[in-house]
Amino acid sequence: MSITIALAGKGGVGKTSVAGLLIRYLKEKGLTPILAVDADSNANLNEVLGLEVPLTMGDAREEMKSIGAQNPNMTKDMLIEMRVNQALVEEKGFDLLVMGRPEGPGCYCAANTVLASSIESLLKNYRYIVLDNEAGMEHLSRVVAKKIDILLIISDPSRRSVETAFRIRDLARALPITVGREGLIVNQATNGGLPEATQKTIEASGIELLGVIPADEVLAEMDADGRPTAVELEADSPVVEAVFASFDKLGLS
Ligand SMILES: Nc1ncnc2c1ncn2[C@@H]1O[C@H](COP(=O)(O)OP(=O)(O)OP(=O)(O)O)[C@@H](O)[C@H]1O
Ligand SMILES: [Mg+2]
Repeated sequence: MSITIALAGKGGVGKTSVAGLLIRYLKEKGLTPILAVDADSNANLNEVLGLEVPLTMGDAREEMKSIGAQNPNMTKDMLIEMRVNQALVEEKGFDLLVMGRPEGPGCYCAANTVLASSIESLLKNYRYIVLDNEAGMEHLSRVVAKKIDILLIISDPSRRSVETAFRIRDLARALPITVGREGLIVNQATNGGLPEATQKTIEASGIELLGVIPADEVLAEMDADGRPTAVELEADSPVVEAVFASFDKLGLS
């Protein structure tokens, strides 16, 4: 059975950066094969990993809407399977699948159904699935997986962001997805830690605080230069050390 780890949180808190580092962590621990799924319609997980994406699932869905007449020898199932394989960016230890643009109004449900079942059968091939999501909660409701083993909620140290994290946890519990464990990672902390009030709010909420990640200029600059942070950050970077220590608490194997 594969283990699904999904990332959620307010906009710009660091979901994608942490997702990239989670893939690196799993790879370094030999917990492969991994499937990285970029479920953000404004996909950029590939950038932190330093990869190009030739085709997204959204592209494949659009194409399916228009085929049929053109190629009578190929069923939609065959075509979508072919496209899913083409869209899979294969790297050492992990593959990346980019969902791309979501279905617009007038959703072509048949295409979605075929796509979903094709992705579902793909998931079985992996030991870990890392799901980077769009900001907000409603997006989690259309995630590919029906079961999230670990929901990593990312927040910045602000009160508002931490409160959003609690809301996300509560909303996730109300969705028709099974969520196993929930953990909070506070990212972009300045002054070496969390304000006492924030710490208390987190304790009172009962959410498991996995770690506090410092705001780091090296990461920020690297990202601004368009370099793949998950690949290029040094092992002794304060961000890598703190994120990896947070992941250690999950006891993944
Ligand atoms: N610990 C950190 N120190 C400094 N900058 C950071 C840190 N973590 C993330 N950033 C920067 O913050 C910005 C947002 O990060 P990221 O894209 O990972 O967030 P996100 O939650 O995925 O955003 P979105 O909601 O847009 O998907 C990026 O420019 C990233 O480089
Ligand atoms: Mg993101």
